[in-house]
Amino acid sequence: MIEKSENIASLEEQFNQRIANGETIEPNDWMPEKYRKQLVRLISQHAHSEIIGMLPEGNWITRAPSLRRKLALLAKVQDEAGHGHYLYSSAETLGTSREEMFDQLHEGKAKYSSIFNYPTLSWADMGMIGWLVDGAAIINQTTMAKCSYGPYSRALIRICKEENFHKKQGMEIIATLIASGEKGKAMVQESFTRFWWPTLMMFGPHDSNSPNSADMMKWKIKLKSNDELRQRFIDMTVDQALAWELRIPDDKLKFNETTRSWETGEIDWEEFNAVINGSGPCNHERLEARRNAHDNGKWVRDAARAFEEKQRLKNKSAA
Ligand code: 3HC
Repeated sequence: MIEKSENIASLEEQFNQRIANGETIEPNDWMPEKYRKQLVRLISQHAHSEIIGMLPEGNWITRAPSLRRKLALLAKVQDEAGHGHYLYSSAETLGTSREEMFDQLHEGKAKYSSIFNYPTLSWADMGMIGWLVDGAAIINQTTMAKCSYGPYSRALIRICKEENFHKKQGMEIIATLIASGEKGKAMVQESFTRFWWPTLMMFGPHDSNSPNSADMMKWKIKLKSNDELRQRFIDMTVDQALAWELRIPDDKLKFNETTRSWETGEIDWEEFNAVINGSGPCNHERLEARRNAHDNGKWVRDAARAFEEKQRLKNKSAA
């Protein structure tokens, strides 16, 4: 018994040394159980966010204002499904199954990004999701693309390339609406006012209230803290909003000349906690839609399994 725990201690020492050297950890490498669990938690939550994130935008495919916009939105929503697939595959390398992850999501036990529990009420929201939501995701994920776990890091590199394109198409929708005149600009402002605070919440609680950050930073899964990334987003986005002459819905917003950074008022953490714990404006609707999609897709999964089984028997009899 003592020998076993000494062995684990030495493996853990070697693991920590590899992390300190900036090495990448691969699926077959030894890793502490807590490292594995943190990764499964993080990557599965991220995968669920991509899949649930298809719903608020999917809501506008039939109402896109032109064929060109419809095609772009369709392609974007398909990209999000693809991101979900890369991420579920990446989590599977850690010994969890896709079925287990889906079950946790459908039973309401798994989290996904808070932002997707808000409704999409106007066409401007499609621009806002690209500009703000994908913009926030890019800031978080380009940093994490250098994380210590190989399969997640590689998935993020590809995801970020596509997200950059999504962000540009979102900004183009906003620029077009603003250029269209007073009505278009008002639509953008209304959408911006609704999305500003929920987007800041995407980065998670303050560092001092983030229970997972210490482990995640120690193991170089996270390379920057929640507050650092949020601040980077604020500094970039406030300048863009001002360039578009949008009003930022924050009376306390001010520029700090010393830090050369924008200071905001406080996020409504009560609202954040309600949303991540199942009581946001659309939590119920999103999970219901996801469960229905899963149930309706059962015949496809059954057919794929039957085909696989048929191939297996065919290969067996040929061998
Ligand atoms: N939404 C939902 N839950 C959140 C959250 C948010 N915005 N922010 C924090 N939480 C949850 C955490 O998951 C954690 O819950 P748990 O312990 O039950 O899992 C709890 O609140 C405490 O937060 P921590 O700061 O301790 O959690 P993390 O260290 O995991 O940091 C995070 C939170 C910064 C969001 C981190 O999980 C992260 O970087 N995730 C990877 C990226 C990701 O998931 N992005 C989704 C964005 S949407 C997207 O990419 C779709 C695209 O199409 C735009």
